[in-house]
Amino acid sequence: MTIFVTGGAGYIGSHTVLKLLENGYEVIVADNFSNSKPEAVKRIKGLAGRDFLFYEIDVCDGKQLDKVFSENKIDCVIHFAGLKAVGESVEKPLEYYKNNLNSTISLCEAMKKHNVNKFIFSSSATVYSGDNAMPLTENSLTGGCINPYGWTKYMCEQILIDTANANEDWSVALLRYFNPIGAHESGKIGEDPQDIPNNLMPFIAQTAVGKFSHLNVKGTDYDTPDGTCIRDYIHVTDLAEGHVSAVNYLKSHTGVNIFNLGTGKGVSVLELACAFEQATGVEIKRKDAPRRPGDQPVSFASTDKAKKELGWEAKKTLLEACADSWRWQKNNPNGYK
Ligand code: WQD
Repeated sequence: MTIFVTGGAGYIGSHTVLKLLENGYEVIVADNFSNSKPEAVKRIKGLAGRDFLFYEIDVCDGKQLDKVFSENKIDCVIHFAGLKAVGESVEKPLEYYKNNLNSTISLCEAMKKHNVNKFIFSSSATVYSGDNAMPLTENSLTGGCINPYGWTKYMCEQILIDTANANEDWSVALLRYFNPIGAHESGKIGEDPQDIPNNLMPFIAQTAVGKFSHLNVKGTDYDTPDGTCIRDYIHVTDLAEGHVSAVNYLKSHTGVNIFNLGTGKGVSVLELACAFEQATGVEIKRKDAPRRPGDQPVSFASTDKAKKELGWEAKKTLLEACADSWRWQKNNPNGYK
């Protein structure tokens, strides 16, 4: 079975490509390196001990996609490629709508033309509305997104739902990620933000390696046990396994299949910082800072459906994720540069 992975040089994409290769799948990867580096592709091949086809293309470009689909017999598409910085999406909404929606539409058009009917979409917990009870289930309310990035994920889900409804032989998986952290245990691939990290774990790891003097704890007066926001931090290799499970699931299921990929556990900002210190022995200096606009106080997943239907659940612990993040950061203080 051949899987076409867009954005396969990225953080989650690279870990998923490696897992697919380790599970015996043929993989074709496309990436335009707008938020990743060629070195990541080299390292995936080294870790897998296997080669795979790579196309440096923009997946919004229908002509370039047509070439990939014409040259290869593709059985399933996993679509990671997309712009994903929440703050940037507020500053550049048109770029986000154009890139994230056009890439999804172009892929669907190429799939229809070449009779490919399995699509796994990299979605996000940001599609859930802010006033849901916790934990979030796949039936929790969606919409009311608080930034253009979240809206693009919501709209891409709708595009795929409508496309699947119009094509009864299509199988679609919408995988809603919570907060990916960690890195492959080798320390050779990991998260490599292109500028100052927006996300908590890479900021902690870069503070630990000396790039920043301290962590700003953005909001300490939330209605949570320690006053800081609670999230569902899932190890990226568990997330990658979830995609392999979804590929298997789509072999025998059509229509739209929605799954939360999380741990089902809520962890606060301070708890993550403490876990990192415990796992690595490195002190993380922190300072209280104002709340970050748009942050939800609490967000974590119900994982019952993925466990029951995908036969998948997260296995790695928070301490393992912290240790793996640190190993990657320590070995690669400047990422893939
Ligand atoms: C977590 C908590 C911050 C940095 C986002 C996207 C989501 C997905 C994951 C793409 C918040 C706090 C952060 C810092 C801090 N991205 N924080 N100091 O916002 O839950 O999710 O990233 O798919 O779609 O929305 O993750 O890691 O940015 O923040 O205190 O220096 O850590 O305020 O409470 P978030 P995050």
